[in-house]
Amino acid sequence: MERIYSSEVQKAKVGSSVELAGWASAIKLLGKIAFVRLRDREGDVQLVTSDKKLITSLRDLTHESVIQVKGKVRKSKLKVGGNEIELQKFEILSKADPNLPIDMSGKIPTDLSKRLNWRVLDLRDTKRTAIFKLRSAINYYIREYLQQNNFIEMQTPKLVGSGAEGGATLFSLDYYGKKAYLSQSQQLYKQMLLAAGLDKVYEIGPTFRAENSHTARHLAEFTHFDFEMAFIKDENDIMKLIEDLFIYTTTKLNTHNKKELQILKLNIELPKVPFPRVTYADALKMLAKEGIKLKVGEDIGTEDEKKLGELVEKKYKTKAYFITKFPYVIKPFYIMKDGKTFSRAFDFEYNGEELASGGQREHNYEKLTSQIKGKGLKLNDFEDYLNTFKFGIPAHGGFGLGIDRLVKNLLNLDNIREAVLFPRDPERLSP
Ligand code: 4AD
Ligand code: MG
Repeated sequence: MERIYSSEVQKAKVGSSVELAGWASAIKLLGKIAFVRLRDREGDVQLVTSDKKLITSLRDLTHESVIQVKGKVRKSKLKVGGNEIELQKFEILSKADPNLPIDMSGKIPTDLSKRLNWRVLDLRDTKRTAIFKLRSAINYYIREYLQQNNFIEMQTPKLVGSGAEGGATLFSLDYYGKKAYLSQSQQLYKQMLLAAGLDKVYEIGPTFRAENSHTARHLAEFTHFDFEMAFIKDENDIMKLIEDLFIYTTTKLNTHNKKELQILKLNIELPKVPFPRVTYADALKMLAKEGIKLKVGEDIGTEDEKKLGELVEKKYKTKAYFITKFPYVIKPFYIMKDGKTFSRAFDFEYNGEELASGGQREHNYEKLTSQIKGKGLKLNDFEDYLNTFKFGIPAHGGFGLGIDRLVKNLLNLDNIREAVLFPRDPERLSP
């Protein structure tokens, strides 16, 4: 007999025999009758028996043990009970230590840090499983969209000789006696692949930032969806694609993932298209009206960014928008300048948080060389990258988007760590 999931019991024929396996989430022995709740990936189901022998064997059962059962589908006597299983056979496959380190009943809340220490137990909760089913679906829809639109998925090195996004957040390590770093982004490689003629590339892979940030939106290792496209007119082509992709992904989620969204009590609102484009200069004006005075060239900090998100939402009735034309001084060397002060860089904002940074790149060899020097970087560190700009490279641009942040904000999670199976931050290197 093939094992079925608990959710399938509700659709199974009353009277039919089925086999299930999972974790014993609740056990109630009442003398002549016994109840066990079996939980698996897809939900849970009630098991019942009044068989003396079976009840005796259930005395050995501890919470969270793995069990395998055979039984008959029957209607529950409870009004809202749906179908349940009348036990015919019962086996403990793996007995759990009765001293569970965290409360698994959902009655006593456990703080996030302790939950993460016991992540494997924590993930058994249906609400957590729902997050990672949705995360998996989000990755799938993004890939589906890009494959349909003729993008090529790339896998670039994570052990690198130089950083692309500034020295402050580089993890360094020993590489056969030489210094190497963990990749901060796929930036340099994706640009090189456009010089190679691949035209439209993307990657969804890990990147590393030695950020000493203790926030609800920074990690030391995160999943970076990096994307680059050649023969663009300007950065508007890239923003248009983000819009399309965002609408595609959220529409798919709302259509195909209702069960998980319901578990999390979520209804993802589709933002209106086009997403507003707010220039950095206008953003500063909007903030100034609220008494937040920033000079051109200053970063919009976390709190101000949140405020700006509220102001934009009030004005344009949307959570999704772009901040465009950032000053060059606060953007990396590879971005294309726009006049003396500004650049073709944008951020994609959602829910008051930056989900992606992107823009058009400088593809002129001389200008790029002078920008690298201008940022105080060593040309030697970028030799291979720079060389590719000598032998023909089209105008291009792209973006990098944090998948973890996307999941956090689409699913309305309080902390980015909730969106990651085994998060890494300055305090955490295990499990
Ligand atoms: O804004 P960032 O640093 O931009 C780049 O890496 C560029 N190469 C992108 C480009 O193509 N121009 O990182 C991109 C995104 C951020 O918007 C954020 O969502 C995420 O990556 N991110 C982080 N997520 C979690 N923890 C961190 N420490 C992150 N740093 C960046
Ligand atoms: Mg950024």
